[in-house]
Amino acid sequence: MTSRKENIFEDKIPTDKVGWRSPSNIALIKYWGKKSGQIPANASLSFTLKESVSETVIEYCPTEGKDFKVDFFLDGEPQPEFSKKIHAYFDSIKHSMPFIAQLDFKINSKNTFPHSAGIASSASGMSAIALCLCDIEKKYFDKDSSEEKFFQRASYFARLGSGSACRSVYGGIVQWGEIDGHRNTSNMFASEIGNEVDKLFEDFHDTILIVDSEQKKVSSTVGHSLMNDNIFASGRFIQADDNIKQLLQILKNGNLNDFIKIVESEALTLHSMMMTSNPYFLLMKPNTISIIEKIWEFRKETETPLCFTLDAGPNVHLLYPAKYASKVKKFIDTELIQFTINNMVINDMLGGGPERIIE
Ligand code: DP6
Repeated sequence: MTSRKENIFEDKIPTDKVGWRSPSNIALIKYWGKKSGQIPANASLSFTLKESVSETVIEYCPTEGKDFKVDFFLDGEPQPEFSKKIHAYFDSIKHSMPFIAQLDFKINSKNTFPHSAGIASSASGMSAIALCLCDIEKKYFDKDSSEEKFFQRASYFARLGSGSACRSVYGGIVQWGEIDGHRNTSNMFASEIGNEVDKLFEDFHDTILIVDSEQKKVSSTVGHSLMNDNIFASGRFIQADDNIKQLLQILKNGNLNDFIKIVESEALTLHSMMMTSNPYFLLMKPNTISIIEKIWEFRKETETPLCFTLDAGPNVHLLYPAKYASKVKKFIDTELIQFTINNMVINDMLGGGPERIIE
């Protein structure tokens, strides 16, 4: 407990603020299953998105009470439940960032994507918060830390908030989790896939077809924990390890056919894991399957390298290189739009990663 007198911030900062815009990401190799301490059961790989972002500003001042306070607002509206969750998260990391216990926080966040879109906001939201905390730390205690160290630390703390959030701290194609024989991979934080990626993947699009806007039927926390007793889990983890190694090669050699096979298989495997858990879940909707079948037909007929992936929900992410954008748009407008709710389509693409919005 800190008494007011011991507060190192007192008189130094009446009120100050930090802010980050941080993106969502879509996993190609799925993280599904974890060990205690937010250690992933297998390594994952994702595309960081450009347009689907959270913008988060944290105002802070020396705490007046015995315990620090967290007030979280989404689009200006107070969110008591989230405030509690973020308080618990801050509490869990304050031994590594002791200044947390000495401040009160007012967090204002907004997302560019509609809540109803069913896009996970935890990756963008938690990465933005972690980046803000690292900014406060840098400002007062670690002015000279390198950029590399700063983002690694942000990824580390984002992971403790939500696993997939650690990948959102970097732009482009990002991996998280130890991979045998691949140096510089870690369970603690994510890292960018270096400059060895084939040009084909530099401008990939992700067009998200919103099939259903219902809130998640199963939270990620519950979903991950169901892998503990899933009899197929051990096979899945071996498969994920093999898939990520193959995909890393494919990203170098640019073989789109092989890329498609792995990406679609990962999406279907994620859903198979949910269907074979106890209790079991079916998160696809009939329209999800109709879209998948249409994609397979379209690919066969036109040889367009368009594929899909799925998150833990019914919405479909269409992945394709930028040069096919007009062809794919036509296909969506004529064949796929009928399966969406209210013609809801989100156009996104590979993005460059988070940006500081308050200097
Ligand atoms: C299906 O990162 O949301 O999107 O660590 O419990 O917060 P927690 O889980 P979360 O899980 C993401 C699961 C996924 C696949 C992925 O993004 O890799």
